[in-house]
Amino acid sequence: MTLDVVILAAGQGTRMRSKTPKVLHKLAGRPLVQHVVDTAAGLDNARLHVVVGHGGETVREALSASTSDDRELAFCEQTEQKGTGHAVAQALDGLGDGKVLVLYGDVPLIQARTLDTLLEGVDEQHMALLTVTLDDPTGYGRIVRNGSDAVVAIVEHKDADAKQRTIRECNTGIMAMTSAQLQRWLPQLSAENAQGEYYLTDVIAMAAADGVEVKAAQPSSPVEVEGINDRRQLASLERAFQHRQADRLMAAGVSFADPERFDLRGDVTVGRDIQIDVNVILEGQVTLEDDVVIGPNCVIKDSILRRGALVKANSHLEGVEMGEGSDCGPFARLRPGTRLGGRAHVGNFVETKNATLGDGVKAGHLSYLGDTEIGRDTNIGAGTVTCNYDGINKHRTLIGECVFVGSNSSLVAPVTIGNGATIAAGSTITRAVADDELAIGRSRQVVKQGWQRPVKMPKS
Ligand code: UD1
Ligand code: CA
Repeated sequence: MTLDVVILAAGQGTRMRSKTPKVLHKLAGRPLVQHVVDTAAGLDNARLHVVVGHGGETVREALSASTSDDRELAFCEQTEQKGTGHAVAQALDGLGDGKVLVLYGDVPLIQARTLDTLLEGVDEQHMALLTVTLDDPTGYGRIVRNGSDAVVAIVEHKDADAKQRTIRECNTGIMAMTSAQLQRWLPQLSAENAQGEYYLTDVIAMAAADGVEVKAAQPSSPVEVEGINDRRQLASLERAFQHRQADRLMAAGVSFADPERFDLRGDVTVGRDIQIDVNVILEGQVTLEDDVVIGPNCVIKDSILRRGALVKANSHLEGVEMGEGSDCGPFARLRPGTRLGGRAHVGNFVETKNATLGDGVKAGHLSYLGDTEIGRDTNIGAGTVTCNYDGINKHRTLIGECVFVGSNSSLVAPVTIGNGATIAAGSTITRAVADDELAIGRSRQVVKQGWQRPVKMPKS
């Protein structure tokens, strides 16, 4: 049976006070609507329809760019926002003959499990509605039940009378029905209500009138159905989401100095006995093997940290593979294409890019290592710079095993340094150095005998 998911994302989101369409504001690094699309795409046989309006082109581009082409994603345009019923109607033509699920681009934390439960209840005699009971139901559509507790209508807050406004069971907006039911009910909607809109919620009364039972289900947690209207709500849902992620990681064997001060904006695969200090941000795809330790204030993006790797405070890693027992920082900047071998050590104020450092390599201080390959157990002295750029092209620096590069050396690429070679401190190396040679590339020291330091004359 087909499943069509209609995601409403046409609203302007005035209260965000932003030039960015509301559904493109980010939660955990991903646009709000992307969360919904990803969850919906995980449902069996789902075909996705996104109804766009305000900033439609931007929303379309953002979603198309980040969506793999194997999942079907269709866009429908709602040029004028005439209500949720009108929005769903824009997708009618593209629907199959199975079930339809309505979701919202600004309700990002809805869980697949909740949706599966909802969809299981749908057939020709039943539709499903997700409701939530709130302490303060102001603004929400209220669920009206009859004497035998059956759901018979939804009344919008603005249309509700005083008695109806005391009802605390609210409409989340999320509902599911058969395509046939929807095709039958939508054309009957009218805009004769307080807001002059075509309310999707009016289909509930039509269901009741048709003898279709409305099955009400509840989410496992209210944050699942929380919608975002302003930046305060966005920040609060972000925290709720991060909390949930930290809980999951702690259950898997990760210790946090403070789970409130951790952010995961992407996916992380973790081993056991990992320690994460405060203010760590993980982005993209990150793998942390057993016994990895991450110090405070580190940003780690798209990286793999092998067993026992140690990232000291204030380090920034992107596109990095750290070998077993290697360490970096404090204040290390490891850029894309950096690979540290086992036990390799990169110290403070070292920047690397497209750099392979073999097992046991040490670069302790203040270096730039770019477009380079460094053999095992080589020592890179403080202030070493690979001069990899001639203003037009990048060139490589190949450094052998067990090399000793003295401090403050410039290695002008392309250049090769053989195994066991020694580079004297302060050298500028422009030609190849063979195995085990000593290269000194600096001007000789001159000592001027009998030189007198100038003396300050007293003012007369
Ligand atoms: C809606 C429900 C209400 C429910 C509440 C939950 C209706 C009539 N009311 O009210 O019962 O308690 O959600 O949050 O459905 N949208 C469009 N096109 C439109 C109108 C809306 O795409 O023409 C989208 C909006 O971008 C938004 C969602 O639909 O994502 C809900 O619309 P909104 O106007 O916020 O509905 P509410 O008045 O909050
Ligand atoms: Ca509204």
